[in-house]
Amino acid sequence: TEKREAPVLIIGSGYGGAVSALRLCEAGKKVIMLEMGLNWEKAGIPFSNLLKPGKSAAWLKKKSIAPFMNIFSLTPFTGTLDRLDFDHINIWVGRGVGGGSLVNGGMAVTPKESYFREVFPDLDAEQFYSFYFPLVQKELKVNVIDEQFLQECPYYKFTRVGEEEAHKAGFKTIRVPNVYDFKYMEKEFRNEVPRSALNTEVIYGNNHGKNSLDKTYLRKALETGNLEILDLHHVQNMKLNDDKTYTVSAHHIDTSGNIIADKTFTCKKLILAAGTMGTLQLLLRSNAVNGFPLHEKVGKNWGNNGNFMTGRNWVKPLSGGTGSKQSTIPVGGVDNWEDKEHPFFTEIAPLPMGMDVATALYLLINRVEKKGEVAFDKTRDILTLKWDESNTVKMRENAKYFVRKMNTANGGTRSHFLFNNGFGADICYHPLGGCVLGEATDRYGKVKNHDNLYVLDGSLIPGTIGVNPFVTITAIAEYCIENLIRQNEFAL
Ligand code: FDA
Repeated sequence: TEKREAPVLIIGSGYGGAVSALRLCEAGKKVIMLEMGLNWEKAGIPFSNLLKPGKSAAWLKKKSIAPFMNIFSLTPFTGTLDRLDFDHINIWVGRGVGGGSLVNGGMAVTPKESYFREVFPDLDAEQFYSFYFPLVQKELKVNVIDEQFLQECPYYKFTRVGEEEAHKAGFKTIRVPNVYDFKYMEKEFRNEVPRSALNTEVIYGNNHGKNSLDKTYLRKALETGNLEILDLHHVQNMKLNDDKTYTVSAHHIDTSGNIIADKTFTCKKLILAAGTMGTLQLLLRSNAVNGFPLHEKVGKNWGNNGNFMTGRNWVKPLSGGTGSKQSTIPVGGVDNWEDKEHPFFTEIAPLPMGMDVATALYLLINRVEKKGEVAFDKTRDILTLKWDESNTVKMRENAKYFVRKMNTANGGTRSHFLFNNGFGADICYHPLGGCVLGEATDRYGKVKNHDNLYVLDGSLIPGTIGVNPFVTITAIAEYCIENLIRQNEFAL
């Protein structure tokens, strides 16, 4: 076993990890970051697109794992997209240096202030809306599509049709900002640069255009000279030592998933940023394996951010459906949040399958009326999730209401093409909570019952935020790490 010491260790290179790394490195701290996925930029391996899944398509699986149409067999490789299967829900996550930012749709949505206040009554909302949200929009390079390009580009027919139909049905639509560089996309369209969003690249990684974390926070952190990122380092568990330091055990793997070395890292300060499910796995598994101290709130207050997928078939058949060419980057949404009976937000999602499948796809984001709970089954060595149909009753009702209203106004049927019964209750892209700010941690993410352990990722958000979550995750991480540094938590 190889042994190393580090003053500050961060596990995971997604939003929470990248923010923590940058701010600590700027403050002059030496940081080691362990990431189980591959450093794609360094490896120089291109990402594959939706129509031709290759190396980047799946985390060590023999078959692709897109939400639909998995007909492709693969040679297992440490790809960017992983799916965690539970009894009643499947959760997709990103793997690699940059975490979820490598595979996500880049939708950069600031939550509604009223809902943010409801979810986080103890935070100073004014400070978030005047400082932290603008800060992260700048750091993440958030921009908005040019309206004329949107109206003219054939690749956005699905958005134009979706919006037109929503208006006919009496819904309000909104423009959704993104981290994908829309000026780059315009050049793609004019064939001046290599295509990415217009070449069905997204959930297996974008070769161009998308400002994922490796191009923003992580690049800046590396430029300080204080950050070392070790990729293909899969952390197995953590141990609390008598002197209140931590020893972290990791498998160093190759791109086929074989273990090439066992490594241990001893650190004074440990930041968990392995994403909601990754962080919960590390905490709960370490507790099961070596009695790692846990607070009773760890695992509690978990939610799917109200994720609920649905679709409609034969959208405007006469005008040619939603188009055979589709950009992978969503820019439109239906905002029905103010409706007291049926509050939801839904993304007008692309379905770029290389042909016109006459199907409109929607990812609804609802309130989470009934939260779930994450635990660990020691005998089977797996995370378990207390979550079933009873948790999604209201989400299904909202989806039904939405589809019915859209079909009444525009024609169309529920999409049996994509889902059993037309609904995908079991599809989750936004797992949140389980290590909630102020419940399992103090008000800045320091884990209760510990002196040197912090959680800074999606697990801090109590299961719901009403919109796509990474802008909020990034802002909360900025807020926490700034205050932790100010309190001299990292004065070593
Ligand atoms: P994140 O999951 O980003 O990073 C955690 C990192 O830790 C990963 O790189 C993982 O490999 C690593 N890790 C985990 N366990 C480890 C271990 N044991 N050892 C070492 N490393 C470990 N959101 C949004 O706002 N807009 C959008 O458009 C979308 N779209 C979208 C599409 C798809 C397909 C998915 C899967 C997700 C989205 N999301 C999204 C969600 C968004 O990507 C997600 O909420 C954030 O990435 C979560 O950020 P975190 O910092 O919590 O962890």
